[in-house]
Amino acid sequence: MALFEDLNYIDGITIIDKDGSILFTVKFNPEIDSKLEESIVGKKLTDVFYNLDKSNSSLYECMEKEKMIERKGQLVKNLYSEDTITDNISFPIKHQGIIVGAVELSKVLIGDKSRLKIDKSSPEDNSIMKPKCLDLGYNAKYALDDIICKSRKMTELIEYAKNIAKSSSPVFITGETGTGKELFAHGIHNASNRKDKPFIAQNCSAVPETLLESIFFGTSKGSYTGALDKKGLFEACDGGTLFLDELHCMPLYLQAKLLRAIESGAVRRIGENEERRFDVRIVAATNICNYDVLLKENIRHDLYYRLSVVNINIPPLRERIDDIKLLSEYFLKKYSGVFGKNVTSISPELNSFMLKYGWPGNVRELENFIESAMLNVPEGKTVMESSDANKSIKDNPADNRTRPIKVLLENMEIKLVEEALMMNRGNVKKAAEYLEIPRQTLQQKMKKYKLK
Ligand SMILES: Nc1ncnc2c1ncn2[C@@H]1O[C@H](COP(=O)(O)OP(=O)(O)OP(=O)(O)O)[C@@H](O)[C@H]1O
Ligand SMILES: [Mg+2]
Repeated sequence: MALFEDLNYIDGITIIDKDGSILFTVKFNPEIDSKLEESIVGKKLTDVFYNLDKSNSSLYECMEKEKMIERKGQLVKNLYSEDTITDNISFPIKHQGIIVGAVELSKVLIGDKSRLKIDKSSPEDNSIMKPKCLDLGYNAKYALDDIICKSRKMTELIEYAKNIAKSSSPVFITGETGTGKELFAHGIHNASNRKDKPFIAQNCSAVPETLLESIFFGTSKGSYTGALDKKGLFEACDGGTLFLDELHCMPLYLQAKLLRAIESGAVRRIGENEERRFDVRIVAATNICNYDVLLKENIRHDLYYRLSVVNINIPPLRERIDDIKLLSEYFLKKYSGVFGKNVTSISPELNSFMLKYGWPGNVRELENFIESAMLNVPEGKTVMESSDANKSIKDNPADNRTRPIKVLLENMEIKLVEEALMMNRGNVKKAAEYLEIPRQTLQQKMKKYKLK
């Protein structure tokens, strides 16, 4: 095994549990910042290494695939020390046939001063963003066709996303938590001409405000104590797609700076006067689905209008019954396999509960629901019953939303009115023309739903 042979020494070991919490970590290399080692046990892997998520971390991947993963060149960013690039071997840990965690052996390639394999004669080599390392850390993992759905709303949305993917226009994705915003962002990148260039996802809520600016725009050596010559995300992502997740968490002053960079197509690293040009497509996402709230407090209007050239609004799961069925069958098959069971169907009672339930956590919640119910299905049984399912969800009347048609229609009307107002930049006359209703009728509806 090539990577194993290369690994004649290792710099560290990390062990996580199945939910991604760090159980143990040890760094054998004394040059690696020990602050990191002490303080991260008990935290979520993806919180500490904030550029990692389920889709790009080798630890998660080995649990998902239930096999050893060799990963060359994984970029890891954390708040405590320099960015690092590691070669990893990751193994899932099983207990009685069930994945309970994973262990990873890592060798530091770049980032740790003692092993820096960098030719100092090349100015770019000071950067952590080496193109050869983009292969794994910066790839979009999912295609639009990986999005499982059969509801008309979603199939139309996917077709729309395929159509707009080829352009370089910015995309603004809204949808409640767990609806698949990140899947769409990956899918759009992979369906675009930029697919062979970097895809970088940056969660704007995962990084302290003080660091965001340097992460986006980069730094020049000496611009503040300890600052290095480092590319920001725009430079690192040149030619590719930058996914700005939870954009509403970005402070407003930085949003203004972001807008300037997008409009001019150039950035200045902190502490530098030189402008560096970039060609990046922005895909932004937020789970605030009420445009009124979004624009009132969270996102600058000018930035919103610049980014929302293409709007993708992913409907909540409760509004796509057909998808609930299809996805629950998909997750049933998946977790039946994961847990070595032979569960092939869901009882009519449980099915009818799932169709009625409101799924505030959307697809993510549905997946967890099926996974946890699967654990409770007795050995040898082939049907998942209501009694196997998570009792706290079923017994929580607050989440058991009913769906009277009046409420559904009103919600739809609110969305249409909001959309029309957004698209016409708040101009009531134009929005009314767009909806083909009299202006007074639109005003009445705005009053009724308290829309501005
Ligand atoms: N249509 C779908 N088909 C298959 N898996 C899906 C689908 N929609 C969502 N998922 C899965 O549900 C989980 C949540 O999806 P994702 O992270 O894209 O949601 P999100 O809208 O970005 O959520 P959040 O707002 O919480 O960040 C992921 O594990 C994703 O793979
Ligand atoms: Mg997300």
